[in-house]
Amino acid sequence: MGAHNLRLIVAITGASGVIYGARLLKVLREKKIEVYLIVSKAAEKVIEYELEITKKDLKKLAQHVYDVNDLDAPIMSGSFQTDGMIIIPCTMKTLAGIAHGYADNLILRAADVTLKERRKLVVVPRETPLGIVHLCNLLEVSKLGVLVVPAMPAYYHKPKTIDDLVNFVVGKVLDCFNLEHRLFKRWSGIKGRKLN
Ligand SMILES: Cc1cc2nc3c(=O)[nH]c(=O)nc-3n(C[C@H](O)[C@H](O)[C@H](O)COP(=O)(O)O)c2cc1C
Repeated sequence: MGAHNLRLIVAITGASGVIYGARLLKVLREKKIEVYLIVSKAAEKVIEYELEITKKDLKKLAQHVYDVNDLDAPIMSGSFQTDGMIIIPCTMKTLAGIAHGYADNLILRAADVTLKERRKLVVVPRETPLGIVHLCNLLEVSKLGVLVVPAMPAYYHKPKTIDDLVNFVVGKVLDCFNLEHRLFKRWSGIKGRKLN
């Protein structure tokens, strides 16, 4: 979108790990990035269960919030320009919808639009073990140009807390948009080599 602050769509769906979405929203707010947030109905339940906060608390972290059934929101149209979309965490159901263009809610429609406009779409899938349908859909979306960043933290940054693990995944999402951060220590060789 040119020289301006980023404008991103963030969707939180009903997978375990809604803490990743909440952390991303906090970081984007600190970075003064304009966020258009959609929370699925299933995610509202998981947010209450896993984070012990209400959907209202979470929604305060974004400037613009749309209902998942609001099918005439600006972000449902390609004419509304954004720099991309992040679905964090992303359920296998929402993944299936993206893979097959089944856009029956605002999250799926916004993802469909992001793809058709050739904008960046990042998904953070969360499921284990992965079944064949899940794996096929992950391959399908990857072929479509979606960046798949699984909720799969690394351990080379020597995490000590759950926060460290969450920050790793959120940091990898920020990397997809070249957004600077210090959410984890980057690998620089076993002995912390200096760059040549
Ligand atoms: C506590 C809880 C955890 C869940 N975790 C996952 C998960 O990790 N991955 C997943 O694909 N679905 C998970 N589900 C199931 C989804 O919420 C369900 O498939 C839902 O229809 C997804 O809808 P959505 O994609 O519109 O959010 C979970 C459900 C609950 C209640």
